[in-house]
Amino acid sequence: MTSHSWQGRVFIAQSLDGFIARPDGDLGWLTDPPHDEGHVTGHDGPEPPPGYEAFMAGIDHLVVGRGTYEKVLTFAGWPYAGHHVIVLGSTLAPGVDERISVAHSVPEVVQTLEGRGARAVYVDGGQVIQEFLRQGLVDELVISTAPVLLGAGIPLFGALGTDVQLTHLGTSYAGSGMTSSRYRVKH
Ligand SMILES: NC(=O)c1ccc[n+]([C@@H]2O[C@H](COP(=O)([O-])OP(=O)(O)OC[C@H]3O[C@@H](n4cnc5c(N)ncnc54)[C@H](OP(=O)(O)O)[C@@H]3O)[C@@H](O)[C@H]2O)c1
Repeated sequence: MTSHSWQGRVFIAQSLDGFIARPDGDLGWLTDPPHDEGHVTGHDGPEPPPGYEAFMAGIDHLVVGRGTYEKVLTFAGWPYAGHHVIVLGSTLAPGVDERISVAHSVPEVVQTLEGRGARAVYVDGGQVIQEFLRQGLVDELVISTAPVLLGAGIPLFGALGTDVQLTHLGTSYAGSGMTSSRYRVKH
């Protein structure tokens, strides 16, 4: 496990069969029709998951994969305003975008976060989440699950060197059929 003084937090939506996007990166299954996790109709557990705005209010840095960053560039606005964003990718040139800093490796990300005194870090992108899980850099996960099977796509989870044990903290339910569960990683 890579030691870290900050909390690594995942907040992501998947299809019931575990995909975060279609093979071509399409997210329409999530947004159209909207599977909004915001209209909670019930919840259970000692620490139910936060909604997106409450989650974002609790983090001070983001680490996103190059794939997620390139998808975000197609959105109408920049969703990360007010937060320091580190994009992880070996093929990105430093200085390519003044809103981000570029890191070419996980040790470089960790060094940057430690140097900046990070406290709570949003870790986003399938490959990056998998890599951070392998290295023991994820402490909490909020996984929203949409009531749809895609059959194929970009997976949220993948191979791990060892099992990752989790404590279930709570689940919330939305009228749209979306469920959201919060887990703490047992290190
Ligand atoms: N459903 C949701 O809530 C949600 C959330 C986030 C993203 N998404 C979707 O997920 C898709 C992107 O996910 P993804 O899994 O394909 O990609 P990703 O994790 O966002 O980015 C993958 C890239 O990150 C870099 N990377 C990963 N591990 C690295 C390492 N150890 N060292 C150096 N670079 C590393 C590599 O960039 P290089 O190739 O440059 O080396 C790799 O190609 C997009 O379609 C996005 O829209 C969905």
